[in-house]
Amino acid sequence: MKRILTVIGARPQFIKAAAVSRAISATKGVNEILVHTGQHYDANMSDIFFQEMGIPTPAYQLDISGGSHGQMTGRMLEQLEAIMLKEQPDAVLVYGDTNSTMAGALAAAKLNIPLAHVEAGLRSFNCRMPEEVNRVLTDHCASLLLTPTDTATQNLAEEGITGDQVVQVGDVMYDAALFFGRLAGEHSNLLETSGVDVGRFVLATIHRQENTDDPERLRAVFEGLEKVARTLPVVVPLHPRTKGRLEDAGMLNLTDNLKTVAPLGYIEMVAHERAAAVIVTDSGGVQKEAFFYGVPCVTLRDETEWVELVEAGWNRLVPPLNAAIIAQAVSQAVGTKGQNVTPYGAGDASERIVSTLLRFLRK
Ligand code: UD1
Ligand code: UDP
Repeated sequence: MKRILTVIGARPQFIKAAAVSRAISATKGVNEILVHTGQHYDANMSDIFFQEMGIPTPAYQLDISGGSHGQMTGRMLEQLEAIMLKEQPDAVLVYGDTNSTMAGALAAAKLNIPLAHVEAGLRSFNCRMPEEVNRVLTDHCASLLLTPTDTATQNLAEEGITGDQVVQVGDVMYDAALFFGRLAGEHSNLLETSGVDVGRFVLATIHRQENTDDPERLRAVFEGLEKVARTLPVVVPLHPRTKGRLEDAGMLNLTDNLKTVAPLGYIEMVAHERAAAVIVTDSGGVQKEAFFYGVPCVTLRDETEWVELVEAGWNRLVPPLNAAIIAQAVSQAVGTKGQNVTPYGAGDASERIVSTLLRFLRK
């Protein structure tokens, strides 16, 4: 029996783990030890995903959150090392690019435990993003790099990471969208939370540090959304970081004409994504979900890791420097479609991850 220790901690990792943990449970010869660092801890940022998506209860719950990047990562590293020493797993599995990812990767690398990285090879080429630092370092510690796209595989090759250790499996978020998206239904009552009608609202999510922690960008984003709201209702499930920064900056009044709601559970979120006229976001996951559901997207960032969607016309990259430009980009996006492309695999990334991992461990 092979034993895989998986480290998760932030919302997008619960969604990815929901798909992969289901595939691990369905596979003979492998057991998963799930560790939740506690990076996200509110019920609507964590528990709801475990309940809705049937993610197994973690064997370890570390309750480590907040503080500076170094404090958070350091505290996680210390506790994850102790758990890995005790459990002696055959491999450690990490997802994406959060501080929980980095801590899991470093702990495994220092103990010489093989590390598998799901969503390897993504790059923004912007080292000021905490996520870029996390993902580059994680990739360079990993023994097995599971990439979602051609671009990601190519990015690794340009850093000299090639050969059997790189396996392009597709995107697990596509698996999750196919499996759990069905539950959302197209005309369901799940839009009741925000009181909007199908096709007649804009959905916006903002949480990236570069947007929330820079008051000028934060102001441009919310003034831009306020302009959009003059023609179409704007639903904003407000991330706790963003809520905190708006409060700190005395800018909560900029949300007065928006339909702000607490963070949504995945099924309710998907129902909103499918029904939106346009999605405005700085989230990695939400950019792709917009495409999965055929909804045009405006990404409020200077660059994106998911370049294929910009190239195919599904996504417009708009640095949030000016409210008028944001509002104009949203109105131009309404009713548009991109090219018919399939950059994220066939929806079987989870099964491919598990079979690749098992092959790797049996070698
Ligand atoms: C983190 C990830 C980011 C990911 C995002 C997903 C890092 C460096 N960043 O950013 O890559 O896109 O998660 O959502 O790992 N908070 C709460 N309740 C919670 C969670 C957070 O109140 O359940 C507040 C806390 O004040 C916390 C702040 O939000 O200090 C930021 O949380 P943190 O996990 O540090 O970063 P995110 O912005 O969530
Ligand atoms: N999400 C959710 N509820 C929300 C906002 C986002 O369920 O209120 C889901 C979203 O559908 C996607 C994932 O969270 O699957 C994306 O996570 P997030 O935007 O927090 O992080 P990122 O993908 O940018 O790392």
